[in-house]
Amino acid sequence: MRSHYCTELDEKNIGEIVEVCGWSNNSRDHGGVIFIDLRDKSGLVQLVCDPTDSTTAHETANKVRDEYVLKAKGKVRARGEGLENPNLKTGKIEIVVEDLIIENISEPVPFVIGDNNVGEDVRLKYRYLDLRNKKSYDIFKLRSKATIAARNLLDQEGFLEVETPILTKSTPEGARDYLVPSRVHNGEFFALPQSPQLFKQLLMCSGFDRYFQIAKCFRDEDLRADRQPEFTQIDLEMSFCTQEDIIRVTESLLQEIFKACGHDIQIPFNRLRYKDAMEKYGSDKPDLRYDLSMIDVIDIFARSSNEIFSSIAKDKKNNRIKALKVPNGDNIFSKRQMKGFEDYVRKFGASGLGYFQMKEDGLKGPLTKFFTEEDLNEIIAISDLKVGDVIFFGAGDKKIVLDYMGRFRIYLAELMEIIPKDRFEFVWVVDFDMFEVEGEEVKALHHPFTMPKNLDAPVEEMESIAYDIVLNGVELGGGSIRIHKKEIQEKVFKLLGISDEEANEKFEFLLDALKFGAPPHGGLAIGLDRLIMLLTNSSSIRDVIAFPKTQKAQCLLTQAPSAVDNTQLRELGIRLRETPANKVL
Ligand code: AMO
Repeated sequence: MRSHYCTELDEKNIGEIVEVCGWSNNSRDHGGVIFIDLRDKSGLVQLVCDPTDSTTAHETANKVRDEYVLKAKGKVRARGEGLENPNLKTGKIEIVVEDLIIENISEPVPFVIGDNNVGEDVRLKYRYLDLRNKKSYDIFKLRSKATIAARNLLDQEGFLEVETPILTKSTPEGARDYLVPSRVHNGEFFALPQSPQLFKQLLMCSGFDRYFQIAKCFRDEDLRADRQPEFTQIDLEMSFCTQEDIIRVTESLLQEIFKACGHDIQIPFNRLRYKDAMEKYGSDKPDLRYDLSMIDVIDIFARSSNEIFSSIAKDKKNNRIKALKVPNGDNIFSKRQMKGFEDYVRKFGASGLGYFQMKEDGLKGPLTKFFTEEDLNEIIAISDLKVGDVIFFGAGDKKIVLDYMGRFRIYLAELMEIIPKDRFEFVWVVDFDMFEVEGEEVKALHHPFTMPKNLDAPVEEMESIAYDIVLNGVELGGGSIRIHKKEIQEKVFKLLGISDEEANEKFEFLLDALKFGAPPHGGLAIGLDRLIMLLTNSSSIRDVIAFPKTQKAQCLLTQAPSAVDNTQLRELGIRLRETPANKVL
């Protein structure tokens, strides 16, 4: 129906008769001449409907309201001097309309397209209108380019795209399952996959060698700005591979995706051992765009005359005393802010937050009295303190201290506005612990199919061949080399406290597959939505998903989830308990 998209037109088309289609973004009557900003996916162009050029077009233009669907034919001309609009790509030209057709009318829309001050609930209810704005279109254009680049690269690398089931059995990624009741087998349920994890391992057992999928995953978990109940992974798996092979493919994959989106990134990426990431940054997904990092001062504090510190320092295995240096902090923060910092870390379990200030005549602060001159000098030396620097320290249980000091690091960086917004800082976090041990409870840090590095070590010391790719403080993806031998898998289940019975009931098919010549294999999955968030600088994952759910896991557009009628429930063999929330129809 069109000869050009709106923004394809410029001065080179002056004098040409063109046809354009789209929506009326707005229209204005200027003394009998009607101007319409016509909008399509590419942007805007100005239509001029002057009765002296065409009375019928002008009459039609009179009826046009916002969001009417139009087709216009006319001649491109230069806008007069002083009438150019430098904010528009097509700001130097306009179309003198000869023919104007209203293809469809529109009721008044609930909000002006592209108005950012409209509440998200309304925008999600009318998501198709919200998506009419150019910013959204550009996000999805980039998402499409990224996905196609991923497909092409993986195809070149010999990966086969295979779909795996959505109606399946529970997969252990640590969240709650979304369940689907079976009509044919009353009382039994499918689970929606939390990831294609087990199926991709089975495909390796089938000899497919290299698999990938742009896979939908479903997890019923607490939602955050970068979490949705339904999200997409670029999921891959390889046979006869080492961690290095997967890292290499992933780096090429990310480089290719970023290239398709207009960014050159350098590979290989840096690597950090899990333990070092935790000890230096208090996080397994550190943001390395800024270089605040922690150092260990437990040995120096062990010698202090403060009993609390010296007793904490006695248990070096379970406790930590960590110092975080903030260059020039003394000149940046007010006294009140320094007090506020303590309130901040207390929210995450800290019992206090100490600090030293580096003055002309040495270290100052309420706690210096507990240290000898020598020890204070050692703190200055190991932290390389200059006049004006501040050093904060946290002391106590290892897990709690690393957590709040890690959060405090980010809090300070945001406060000081030292996070560069235009940089992509990738890092591999490698050599994860195999288990998370809390008292008697042993949990898998990744998932239970991850290959241990040192199977004979005590559980606290066992590491896994698992790796995460982190970008700007966000966990972009993760993976591991898998267990391909039944005996090892059984031993790991045992360490996790999963009985033979439970293992058989949940994963019999996988354990069976391991019996019939499973090859060594491993893989990784990248969170596509998170990747697009970072590439488009979006603050919410909902901006990069066409039809997202709210924080409360609802779709405001379709009103899902919703009640179903009794006939459907009866067929499924389900009777709802009578609770106020159950609206039984
Ligand atoms: P994992 O659980 O680490 O690994 O998930 C991989 C990546 O998926 C993204 N992600 C999410 N994105 C949005 N919303 C969510 N709720 C959500 N949960 C996870 C993250 C994460 O890094 N099967 C393994 C991969 C493997 O071992 O090969 C897995 O799913 O970016």
